[in-house]
Amino acid sequence: MQVLADRVRTEGKKIGLVPTMGYLHEGHLSLLRAARKASDLLVMSLFVNPTQFGPHEDYATYPRDFERDLDLASSEGTDIVFAPTAAEIYPAGYTTWVEVAGLSDKLCGKSRPGHFRGVTTVVTKLFNIVKPHVAFFGQKDAQQAIIIRRMVQDLNMDVNIEVLPTVREADGLALSSRNVYLNDRERQAALVLNRALKAAQELVQSGERSSAVILSKMSELIGQEPLVVVDYIAITDPLTLEDLEKIDSKALIALAAKVGKTRLIDNCMVDL
Ligand code: PAJ
Repeated sequence: MQVLADRVRTEGKKIGLVPTMGYLHEGHLSLLRAARKASDLLVMSLFVNPTQFGPHEDYATYPRDFERDLDLASSEGTDIVFAPTAAEIYPAGYTTWVEVAGLSDKLCGKSRPGHFRGVTTVVTKLFNIVKPHVAFFGQKDAQQAIIIRRMVQDLNMDVNIEVLPTVREADGLALSSRNVYLNDRERQAALVLNRALKAAQELVQSGERSSAVILSKMSELIGQEPLVVVDYIAITDPLTLEDLEKIDSKALIALAAKVGKTRLIDNCMVDL
């Protein structure tokens, strides 16, 4: 991959990278489409990264369908699917980590210690291997995108980061590879997450500025679904992820919840 990337770069061509853990859905495909337009060589990485899963999380059972992913990637015009094994990415003796301190401990980082260290480490390695000029991420994982932008800036990584909007089902549920874990009742209950974000946006539009008021309205709504247990709901500064008491310009409204055994996340941005 590195030899090929060097050759393509020498030819003056632009490399685009879409990092994924596979089990592709429309959210991933939207990234591939944007990347296809922006690059000469389009690389999709497909790697279920063990270091970003906690010991009691779903690494072993994470949904996988390699053949289907290859078909979908190729139907979007992907030139290369880079799919290393865990032993290739983390050979014996592996001991180096990339950590975006502070940002990685907030929101999802609180209930998933080490998760973002795994993400930033593997994304750094993918950047070093694929050598992209531009890499594409989804707003669905807002904290991940913020952390990766911070890492690229802090470490002078020579890659442009593009973040694209969250793709949703017609009924508002954000697409996620983990949605396959949901049974019918859970799938229905999960819709409350997007409804709560919508309600928050409406409150802001109607002039509400107090985070406490908005958060309590969101908790109340989600509380009506017994199958949904909130991990966090937060209104934060979209760069620092610090809690905002009041919304006075841009804010990230983000949440995570367990629906049955499945942990789902969603978010929206407000900008006055
Ligand atoms: P994965 O969950 O497979 O997601 C790959 C990319 O697709 C991420 O940038 C994610 O934000 C984006 N994505 C997921 N659902 C989306 C949706 N509904 N709409 C738009 N984009 C969506 O995120 C990861 O993998 C990993 O952490 C990775 C970055 C590959 C590192 O291992």
